[in-house]
Amino acid sequence: MRALVLEGAGLEGARLRDWPDPRPGPGEALIRLRAAALNHRDLWACRGWKEGAQPGVLGSDGAGVIAELGSGISDSTVGAEVVINPSLHWPAHQPFPGPEFEILGRPTDGTLAEAVVVPSANVFRKPAHLSFEEAAALPLSALTAWRALVTVGRLSPGETVLVPGAGGGTAAACVQLAHALGARVIATSRDAAKREKLKRLGAELALDSAAPFADEVRKATGGAGADLVIESVGRPTWGESIKALGRGGRLVIYGSTGGDAVEFNLVPFFLSWQSVLGTTMGNAGEFATMLAFVERHRLVPPVDRIFPFDQAPEALRHLNRSEQFGKVVVAF
Ligand SMILES: NC(=O)c1ccc[n+]([C@@H]2O[C@H](COP(=O)([O-])OP(=O)(O)OC[C@H]3O[C@@H](n4cnc5c(N)ncnc54)[C@H](OP(=O)(O)O)[C@@H]3O)[C@@H](O)[C@H]2O)c1
Repeated sequence: MRALVLEGAGLEGARLRDWPDPRPGPGEALIRLRAAALNHRDLWACRGWKEGAQPGVLGSDGAGVIAELGSGISDSTVGAEVVINPSLHWPAHQPFPGPEFEILGRPTDGTLAEAVVVPSANVFRKPAHLSFEEAAALPLSALTAWRALVTVGRLSPGETVLVPGAGGGTAAACVQLAHALGARVIATSRDAAKREKLKRLGAELALDSAAPFADEVRKATGGAGADLVIESVGRPTWGESIKALGRGGRLVIYGSTGGDAVEFNLVPFFLSWQSVLGTTMGNAGEFATMLAFVERHRLVPPVDRIFPFDQAPEALRHLNRSEQFGKVVVAF
């Protein structure tokens, strides 16, 4: 089969080439992919390539059709249209995964290939209202966003959520889901056109990430500040995000695209009963609940652009330039 294989350093190290056809073992399903989506994780993988590493297929998100089932599977059918949960080995009952947890797409071969093998427990029926391209745009981003907002962020309807850097795939999912959950959403982006799109996605207010935005958030909330901030930018927006957080506010962080090291003043933090909470991905129960919510509300994740598979390296470069609004998808 053809696959986008990481076999060298940087984005140039991701090359389209022939790769051995995968076969399902016991409890596994072979999915023939119809669409896959990119994540910032694919860029980190390219940037983090170490000399002597094993080549492998990129991609965490995918939707397609079950082509073959390994032994011992009774609850799936060949031919079913499915979407893949990329949280490997994190069952529904576990609040946190064990050391066997992995995200699909290196070291386990991922979805940027004509076919992928995953545990059948990671295969879910594709929401009927979504195309394969739209369904492929959901898994990693919407799962992370769901856990950040609901499980960890304990969002209640009517609360105000601030989402900095919201032009990105996962942050845009936060905006869309938070709005559908009945929250009041304030988003930021560095790009004026993306700010307009964020309003159409459910943000009541869209501010510039590159300018001080905390005072604007305070003004919009009658001085109270945000109940919940969902951070993924890190250093560039951290100071304003903390300043925008209200009394008893929760700041949930799942990423630090713009830099890891931050400083903040502890005194106003503890005198305001605030908390900072880290999260990553989500378990199988959260994936199922998120999918059911998306289906019930007929949400369609924002797809920025669909590249044909033979242009997958260009799709990666497009994501690397931060040109996208929402998800960058590759169609087979
Ligand atoms: N822990 C987890 O489970 C998990 C899951 C998903 C993602 N992540 C992490 O979360 C981050 C976002 O992932 P993604 O796939 O959604 O990425 P993405 O689609 O590439 O989006 C990143 C967005 O962050 C904003 N941004 C980047 N650099 C910035 C800067 N210097 N200043 C202000 N804003 C900046 C941009 O928004 P604008 O263009 O709107 O300005 C950009 O579009 C990544 O670091 C990723 O590794 C972690």
